[in-house]
Amino acid sequence: MNRFEDRIILVTGAGSGIGQATVERLLAEGGQVLALDVSEAGLKVTEERAREAGAADRLTLITADISDEAAVQDKIGGTIAKAGRLDVLVNAAGILRSEHTHKTSLEFWNRVLAINLTGTFLVTRECLPLLLASGRGVVVNFSSTSASFAHPYMAAYAASKGGIQSFTHTIASEYAKQGLRAVAVAPGSIASGMTNTPGIPADADFSLFAKMSPAIGEGFANPSSVAGVIAMLASDDGAFVTGTELRIDGGTHM
Ligand SMILES: NC(=O)c1ccc[n+]([C@@H]2O[C@H](COP(=O)([O-])OP(=O)(O)OC[C@H]3O[C@@H](n4cnc5c(N)ncnc54)[C@H](O)[C@@H]3O)[C@@H](O)[C@H]2O)c1
Repeated sequence: MNRFEDRIILVTGAGSGIGQATVERLLAEGGQVLALDVSEAGLKVTEERAREAGAADRLTLITADISDEAAVQDKIGGTIAKAGRLDVLVNAAGILRSEHTHKTSLEFWNRVLAINLTGTFLVTRECLPLLLASGRGVVVNFSSTSASFAHPYMAAYAASKGGIQSFTHTIASEYAKQGLRAVAVAPGSIASGMTNTPGIPADADFSLFAKMSPAIGEGFANPSSVAGVIAMLASDDGAFVTGTELRIDGGTHM
């Protein structure tokens, strides 16, 4: 399939996990990908994989922190202006931090919201003019099953992901007449940098996680299982999907 042969896509969080797998998938389907991450080392791995796949000539790397307004304007704004077009934005960058809510500091809360929610807003705002100019722009945002299914110790993270769902619905409505689609994915139990070190408090009550296992497969799934769904949603195969979210959790929360 070459569903992205004539498309330019920006993927954030492209240096690890689901974002990295999405870059690989979209390159494999012919896309031109702008891969952003705060981790230069992560992006080097992404670049190496693209080289092995013979697709490095269609990959551009951007090192930036999505919670830094000036960096977003300068680095993302500069790169997409140079590209002259943008068809798809995949907002995968994010962090997971866990803590008892009564021990959560304001600094901790603000950091999670700043990256996950405000970062998604900043990158989207920067990209919207070109996505609208494309006439078939798509935004794929990253919510999480934690937004709707009460995951303990993740109040800040879950709130940020709930905010992303609401944000997605709003822009889907606001720009629908200009051809923009906006969808959110809500993954769960995907093996990645984030879930390898979730930082659950040492004194957590693990019985609260009893209902958080996938019904299919063997434990945590490969990030490519989310990347394939993103490719569908961002391509013309997803042309009638907007203003909604898709849960990708192996039936954990059915
Ligand atoms: N893995 C899961 O089960 C799961 C479940 C629900 C939602 N998600 C969401 O999926 C998305 C991808 O996460 P993942 O699981 O691949 O984790 P990951 O940790 O492997 O990847 C996240 C990437 O985001 C980057 N990043 C973090 N802060 C950044 C910043 N300020 N600016 C730019 N880049 C930054 C990291 O460097 C990393 O490369 C996240 O939004 C996450 O919340 C994942």
